[in-house]
Amino acid sequence: MSNQPTKPADVTPGKGSSGGFYSDVVKEHFFHPHNFLEDESSYEADGTGMVGSPACGDVMRVWIKVDKKAGRIVECKWKTFGCASAIAATSMMSDMAIENGGLTLEQAREIRPQDIMTRLGGLPARKIHCSVLGDKALREAINDYYRKTGQTDRILVEQGRVIDKVLKITDHDIEEAVLEGADTLEKVQAKTKVGLGDPSCIPEVEQLIRFYREKYCNDAKA
Ligand code: FES
Repeated sequence: MSNQPTKPADVTPGKGSSGGFYSDVVKEHFFHPHNFLEDESSYEADGTGMVGSPACGDVMRVWIKVDKKAGRIVECKWKTFGCASAIAATSMMSDMAIENGGLTLEQAREIRPQDIMTRLGGLPARKIHCSVLGDKALREAINDYYRKTGQTDRILVEQGRVIDKVLKITDHDIEEAVLEGADTLEKVQAKTKVGLGDPSCIPEVEQLIRFYREKYCNDAKA
């Protein structure tokens, strides 16, 4: 089954559920995705990564080829069942990973959704969670490469820090809630219940919400 984009209405101004507008760069990458992998069965990757979005259930896969001497990514392929924003964001990310001879693995690990969104000319706020799938899957692929080449000391696992000690809610849970659109303490609590069992953590939760909004949302400083 082909996973080529099939939802052009999503990049047509005014037709999205938020009525949000997409930049010309987003549309260009959606209609002509770069580095999209049609058939992974014959592709020999050095590392692969796969992540799912808790916000919408979509799945993203990334494959990389690495110049082992230089430690640089020379190919970055991807495939997703996600929406137009996920397609455009990952297409842009895959270009960023291989431009100018390819990023080193350490540089590629530093690609953040905000960098991708800047290059895309922005995304509607409700679509921010779509833009994090590609870079997460890329970091998984990099870890997979290190695992396969025996460089296990270089593997970085993104571990959560427990914020609410009663309900065992981590900073990653709060990050996911913000990515799903929760931009106030009340909305984050509706999703996670953070602070209901351990109110002493609420100031830290509020700080984290501000931090993640600044990290992911263009409107965060408003
Ligand atoms: Fe699922 Fe965009 S809505 S990836």
